[in-house]
Amino acid sequence: MRPRTWLLLAAQLAALHGNSVLQQTPAYTMVQTDQMVMLSCQAISSLTTRIYWLRQCKAPSSDSHHEFLVFWDSSKGTIHSEGVEQEKIAVFRDGSRFFLNLTRVKPEDSGIYFCMVIGSPSLTFGTGTQLSVGKKQAQCY
Ligand SMILES: *[C@@H]1O[C@H](CO)[C@@H](O)[C@H](O)[C@H]1NC(C)=O
Repeated sequence: MRPRTWLLLAAQLAALHGNSVLQQTPAYTMVQTDQMVMLSCQAISSLTTRIYWLRQCKAPSSDSHHEFLVFWDSSKGTIHSEGVEQEKIAVFRDGSRFFLNLTRVKPEDSGIYFCMVIGSPSLTFGTGTQLSVGKKQAQCY
């Protein structure tokens, strides 16, 4: 199986188990189109060397899925998924806290963002941040 396919499958399984020890903040945020947003994921220890970020586009249901966006690795740096604009997403860390910056957000960026670490034997999922991107208000003259 291709790594990407494997990752999506693994994410689905972990989501079902729902064990979250990665605290994500905020739990919910709403921003306007073209603004920037910073999401945070608190790991238990600063020993975490790789963190994945995924997005669930629809409400949890049988046909919802997690889309892999990017991972950050202490030796490789930031690796974006194919099809994700590099300038759009920045990932960085501060001790045991990890951040995802999204720039110039669009309504289609709305969804639930998860951080995830792959441990052995299991995966750990973040608590999630629900992002809603509002459309710009029409100008009234
Ligand atoms: C991430 O976003 C925060 C808040 O807007 C900003 O202060 C910071 O410089 C950004 N960092 C990167 C690497 O984009």
